[in-house]
Amino acid sequence: MKGLILSGGKGTRLRPITYTSAKQLVPVANKPVLFYGIEAIRDAGITDIGIVVGDTKEEVMAAVGNGSGFGIKVTYIEQPEPLGLAHAVLVAEDFLKDDPFVMYLGDNLILGGIKELAQEFMRDRPNAQILLAKVTNPKQFGVAELKDGKVVRLVEKPSEPKSDLALVGVYMFDKNIIRAAKSIKPSTRGELEITDAIQFLIDQGYTVHPHMVNGWWKDTGKLEDMLEANRMVLDSLATCIHGHVDSSSTVEFKVVVESGAEVINSVVRGPAIIGRNARVINSFIGPFTSIDKNVQVISSEIEHSIVLEGSIIKEVDRRIEDSLVGRNVEVGKSPLKPTAYRFMLGDNSKVGLL
Ligand code: TTP
Repeated sequence: MKGLILSGGKGTRLRPITYTSAKQLVPVANKPVLFYGIEAIRDAGITDIGIVVGDTKEEVMAAVGNGSGFGIKVTYIEQPEPLGLAHAVLVAEDFLKDDPFVMYLGDNLILGGIKELAQEFMRDRPNAQILLAKVTNPKQFGVAELKDGKVVRLVEKPSEPKSDLALVGVYMFDKNIIRAAKSIKPSTRGELEITDAIQFLIDQGYTVHPHMVNGWWKDTGKLEDMLEANRMVLDSLATCIHGHVDSSSTVEFKVVVESGAEVINSVVRGPAIIGRNARVINSFIGPFTSIDKNVQVISSEIEHSIVLEGSIIKEVDRRIEDSLVGRNVEVGKSPLKPTAYRFMLGDNSKVGLL
């Protein structure tokens, strides 16, 4: 069995971060989302993995390399344009050949991995196996309708959902999905939809097994979901202090301080992680916060947030919450007169002022 991870796409819902960076490389608990997917596939015993890449291919290739660091072999597959999940299958045809494969959306996280799912698929050998989970907002997902336990219809982002069962971003297919992807037409949003390709399989009498996911999973394509994923993963970490915490600082609950990091005269209330060579000085780091490597937080308070590498948060009067701060960002008090806010924000940035 092979693995196919989709790490292209437009990432419009996570702008401006995705103007300069791949959304699959945004760190959750200081580890890129994509790495969780790679590890889940590898832990299911699959080591021949294709990664579909788009505009951000160089960044993804630099982060994952040839896969040896994960104990896998990676083949990069270029998708010239993000024309849909079924289109990604088509561009991967030469890599997939006739082998069965697991397709994993590179911005998805599934707690507990996919080992049992892969085993179930290889044992029962349906033509496709889809993962479903109950959601409260089915309009935002691909939705499945079941009848007598069988999948009868799949609709992408329905305006009037007939069920609350969303398609989770992990699918298992045999070679017939390629013929299905070749047979369908682009949807109204111009994409070759994987839901339409699976619907083609159903209509042609192929077996499509549903599998309910009871554990936690998340599509991290939006800010709130990214923060929730960060919460979940941080909560599963155990305290581990490799860096320096001075005697006037307090570290409470589950906190990871990576090597070279310094916590000086501060309070870190976990679950939280302070990355390599980060500096936290005269500050409060609250629950569910990931501070990435080389970040500086000075005389400021932050919680329930993700701060990417190299950023500086300095002398901010009010607590920062629910935020995703990109790389090498500076947020701080301006000493210049007249007293004023001074910004340089990328397109589609969001700033909440008091
Ligand atoms: P989506 O999140 O559905 O699409 P997107 O990345 O374009 O984001 P947005 O809707 O915010 O604009 O994609 C799911 C995953 O599949 C994600 O990891 C990107 C990847 N993908 C591809 O690799 N190729 C594609 O053609 C598409 C549509 C997505």
